Amino acid sequence: MQNDYLLLHYGSAEDTMPYSFGPREAIDFPARCAKLVLESATQLGLKTERAIDVGCSVGRAVFELARTYQEVVGVDLSKAFIEAANTLKHEGQLDYFRKDEGQLGATLTATIDSAIDRNRTTFRQADACALPPELVGFDAVLLANLLDRLPSPKACLARMGGYLGLVRPGGVVMSPYTWMEQFTPIDAWLGGYERDGNALSSKDGIRAALGEAFELVTEENMPLLIREHVRKYQYIVTHVTVWRRNET
Ligand SMILES: C[S@@+](CC[C@H](N)C(=O)[O-])C[C@H]1O[C@@H](n2cnc3c(N)ncnc32)[C@H](O)[C@@H]1O
Repeated sequence: MQNDYLLLHYGSAEDTMPYSFGPREAIDFPARCAKLVLESATQLGLKTERAIDVGCSVGRAVFELARTYQEVVGVDLSKAFIEAANTLKHEGQLDYFRKDEGQLGATLTATIDSAIDRNRTTFRQADACALPPELVGFDAVLLANLLDRLPSPKACLARMGGYLGLVRPGGVVMSPYTWMEQFTPIDAWLGGYERDGNALSSKDGIRAALGEAFELVTEENMPLLIREHVRKYQYIVTHVTVWRRNET
């Protein structure tokens, strides 16, 4: 699993998709998420002091956000992912195994761009459904493909606003998702089902869970390619929504 995420986060187009006809625009998903956070911050004229990536996995978006944000925190439930992210922080690189065919594959090296100040990053293990109370007041919060992995996405979104809100007033929350029953029981999905004969979209569900203090800034379809091996890939079109917490 850790190898798969290291390839997803740090693999180049050539490392990931050797075929010229493959969807290369779907590679580098974490970096594109970080770019959209930065573009949204610029468009809204927001401060770029503190950002947090909840469900950061092996940390690529955290490092990309650190190109601009002064302090970036990466949080994940997985101890192994946080250890890998910390190795990348301290060493600047980490070897991993890319599966090609059966047991065959190649050892690749994940590398952090030397232009990134890795000292701006911090990684810690924590549960997105019960985030530590000291994590408050970030200018930007990234929840990339996290909500659909949680037993209670509402518990996570409930932590965004309010007195001890993860995002400060004026700040943004960005979140793609794809619901799957294996992770989130259907009755905890934020949308993607019918209620009283009406279809409830995930966007409306997220809006309801965030509450009136948040407004939708932008949304887009963002492709994501996950390589299983050289002849099998998952192609996902994530629905990304960016929300701004009102100043009041
Ligand atoms: C689908 S992956 C997405 C990883 C990364 N954000 C990305 O876009 O590549 C979901 C991540 O959420 C983490 N995760 C799952 N449950 C969590 C929880 N309760 N709290 C924090 N992280 C969690 C997983 O360990 C994994 O790294």
